[in-house]
Amino acid sequence: MKSDLIVYAARLPKAELHLHIEGSLEPALMFALAQRNKIDIPFKTVDEVRAAYAFSNLQDFLDIYYQGMSVLQTEEDFFDLTMAYLNRARADNVRHVEIFFDPQGHTDRGVAFDTAIGGILTALSMAKKQFGMTSKLIMCFLRHLPEAAAFSTLKQAETWLDQIDGVGLDSSEVGHPPSKFQKVYEAARERGLKLVAHAGEEGPPDYVYEALDLLKIDRLDHGNRSLEDDALVKRLADEGMTLTVCPLSNLKLCVVDDMRDHPLKKMLDLGLRATVNSDDPSYFGGYMQDNFEAVINALDLTRDDIKTLAKNSFTGSFLSDGEIRAQLAAIDLVR
Ligand code: HPA
Ligand code: ZN
Repeated sequence: MKSDLIVYAARLPKAELHLHIEGSLEPALMFALAQRNKIDIPFKTVDEVRAAYAFSNLQDFLDIYYQGMSVLQTEEDFFDLTMAYLNRARADNVRHVEIFFDPQGHTDRGVAFDTAIGGILTALSMAKKQFGMTSKLIMCFLRHLPEAAAFSTLKQAETWLDQIDGVGLDSSEVGHPPSKFQKVYEAARERGLKLVAHAGEEGPPDYVYEALDLLKIDRLDHGNRSLEDDALVKRLADEGMTLTVCPLSNLKLCVVDDMRDHPLKKMLDLGLRATVNSDDPSYFGGYMQDNFEAVINALDLTRDDIKTLAKNSFTGSFLSDGEIRAQLAAIDLVR
């Protein structure tokens, strides 16, 4: 029964590995921050905001996503944003989060790097103290900007590197291949940072090869279009590469036309280490459990598939081996 699987998914401890903190900005908080900071936004009601969230591709979304960020001004704003997400994730039994943030989305409009990261880190440490949620922080480079801008972001991050776990690559994919960022990824690797990159969301399988071979990523964000290349699928499976898959995002951005065509089940059957994530939950219609419900309702996932997805979220995380073992044992206890 689907309803049993939905309850099972809700009860399982899970990690979220693909979450843009700026994409968790709910309309209600957007209005509150706009008022607090005296910033004009082009919406009067929550309904108007929701109506604007009809996207036909990644760029449609990004235009609105960067506009939404404009209400984030102070360290307190970033704290409130992050705390709201962490509490919401906790309600879905998410026990560990690896959060992306987009420093250039803030520094380019005059908000300091330190303001953004300071508020985010305070919330992460409070969630650890208050409810034991563990976290990692991943700083993303905006790929539509030049590599030199990514280098300058890495420089601004220098004094925070003990609190940043990795770097990622996001924003407009097509026309901005991973190869554009080879040197800055090498610099990040030299600093001991973990490496992830969005690839194969809208971009071709070649971009996934570049992320693997040139950026030397530890984890692949999205990766959907890898399925067009059998040799690539085999390589990803053989290497045990984790894919951070985002079902509701894929539907909203028309990466899939119908949830029944979503490749998640196929990925698992091909031996790929897929995980379920919410990407930008405020914009795409839901958090972790909403994503599980959507795929359970649309696809023929088994109980073992659901368990595998939860386990993959920890084995694919940047937690220590001991922490991963403890989370996997907790999953085995759920009936
Ligand atoms: N893809 C690319 N860039 C992004 C996304 C995404 O899904 N969300 C926020 N920035
Ligand atoms: Zn993303």
